[in-house]
Amino acid sequence: MRRILSRNLLSSISLFGRNLQPCTSVAVGQRSVISRLFCTTSTGTSMDLSDMRKKYKGDEECFEENQLASLDPIKQFGNWFDEATKCPEIGEANAMCIATATKDGRPSARMVLLKGYSNDGFRFFTNYESRKGGELESNPYACLVFYWEPINRQIRIEGNVERIPFQNSCDYFHSRPKSSQIGAVVSRQSTPVPNRDYLRQKNAELEEKYKDCEVPMPDYWGGYIVKPYLIEFWQGQTNRLHDRIVFTKVKNEEELGEFQHPAENGWAYQRLSP
Ligand SMILES: Cc1cc2nc3c(=O)[nH]c(=O)nc-3n(C[C@H](O)[C@H](O)[C@H](O)COP(=O)(O)O)c2cc1C
Repeated sequence: MRRILSRNLLSSISLFGRNLQPCTSVAVGQRSVISRLFCTTSTGTSMDLSDMRKKYKGDEECFEENQLASLDPIKQFGNWFDEATKCPEIGEANAMCIATATKDGRPSARMVLLKGYSNDGFRFFTNYESRKGGELESNPYACLVFYWEPINRQIRIEGNVERIPFQNSCDYFHSRPKSSQIGAVVSRQSTPVPNRDYLRQKNAELEEKYKDCEVPMPDYWGGYIVKPYLIEFWQGQTNRLHDRIVFTKVKNEEELGEFQHPAENGWAYQRLSP
């Protein structure tokens, strides 16, 4: 087995094994991953996932243009977002993946929490000196993706990004639990630290320092707003004829493309092939 497993794979398996207590039962999902690993190692790290396929919605539940709750995509977003928040199987409907890129176009992505939206755009909070913060400062564009698996829906939002006003960040910062405020001060996000104890100790020091007073918002922390120029609504269909309706900002309604339709508030929409 050693001969055919790559060093990386071996180290991840032994890492996994080290974390297990002697009598810990392996969850079904993990067990199937392990069996897949051991069954498909003839080419090293190759894994065959071709039989992983989920049933989506049937054709009768498709998403047609006349089912749009609004021709304003922000309102349409609100409609789907509300449905996602009401779905008990969706733990964090406001969790979204945000992709940023360096100035020379190397992308990176991670999850953050949406903390508000309006006609102006979609707001989230982070450390301005983090990796994403650095990328946004030099290349102020981002793509957001929500995926709500239980309702087979995905929303993609592309836009240019700006910092929100300092006072708005401050207001939100101080509305958070004190422990989260301290956590934001402790963490020089995305920078290396020697170990977990280092963070633990810093956290304890700051808890003591601010035990009787307000935690000042660090100047390296705050909010961004993604101002959208594209919003795509996707709904999965079992027959793979997924629905995709994409709204784009248009400057001049007379310049709409062949299958593009005027919408509201400076937007136009069209259906894309899945
Ligand atoms: C569900 C979820 C929500 C998260 N929310 C945030 C958030 O709102 N802000 C944030 O800075 N990081 C958040 N994180 C952590 C980020 O994914 C990421 O680890 C961190 O921001 C550093 O990213 P960066 O090094 O690419 O800048 C969240 C992670 C998860 C899994």
